Amino acid sequence: MAIKMRRLSNALGAEIRDVDISKPMSESTFGSIHRIFLDHGILLLRNQNVTREQHIEFSRRFGELDKHDALPRDRHPDYPELLLVTNRPNPDGTPSESRYTGRLWHTDLSYTTHPALGSLLRCFNLPEVGGDTLFANMAMAYDALSAGMKKLIADLHGIHLSGTRQINNQEAGTARQAEVMRLNPPIAQPVVRAHPETGRKALYLGEKVKRFDGMTEDESRPLIDYLNKHATRPEFVYRHQWRENDIIVWDNRCTMHQALADFDETQLRHLERTTVMGTPSGYVVTA
Ligand code: OGA
Ligand code: MN
Repeated sequence: MAIKMRRLSNALGAEIRDVDISKPMSESTFGSIHRIFLDHGILLLRNQNVTREQHIEFSRRFGELDKHDALPRDRHPDYPELLLVTNRPNPDGTPSESRYTGRLWHTDLSYTTHPALGSLLRCFNLPEVGGDTLFANMAMAYDALSAGMKKLIADLHGIHLSGTRQINNQEAGTARQAEVMRLNPPIAQPVVRAHPETGRKALYLGEKVKRFDGMTEDESRPLIDYLNKHATRPEFVYRHQWRENDIIVWDNRCTMHQALADFDETQLRHLERTTVMGTPSGYVVTA
């Protein structure tokens, strides 16, 4: 079956049309979808009114799923493969732990030594307006750097902190942040990573990066800020306006994303994510 697709932006993304992930899918159809995923960095599948089991089953085709030990508070109580991204209050009326998930530029689980290959986020409930997500193409951003800058950053490692206090992070000081930090020591990741499947080089950074290994925070900050600002220029970005039953699959190895707070937080925004485990990368920083 020929897959129908439509590009989402000049920088990245493709919508796959006429596919229902709850139906059996041949290896060759999945192979074509997987190729589009590698070529475009993110996939959009609309109108996927599927069960949690079907979301999980489809996700497994991309690889082994994470059980979210790095983020135990955000797990679905019955499905460890599902991570809640929701502002629905807990049954006891306390605010949801995951209501501020992703409010800064990041790539999933970069603060572990098994950063995610991909994530599949499914939209259940949306505020009346807003609640968009931004995605950036980090391979395109890398390619646009000068030869001098590429040489300068070739061997640098960025130290990724989980739950860091950064601009735009409303999690600072919460119990969730304290737990995520306790479970996850600082991890150094290469600033430039060759994609394990395509071989294409991409920047691997984000706002969880505090400093470069072997350098002070003051020394590192200007270059980290420059690279993040460069990578998130509008020409490298796609902004997704969600609809209910959208599933977005993103490649965490060559894209970053950010959840926007551009909505009325008294309205329900509820999404659920599976996380596909990636190849080992990075090392624990002790000092
Ligand atoms: C995530 C995430 C963004 C959003 O689920 O990993 O960062 O817009 N979510 O909810
Ligand atoms: Mn995320």
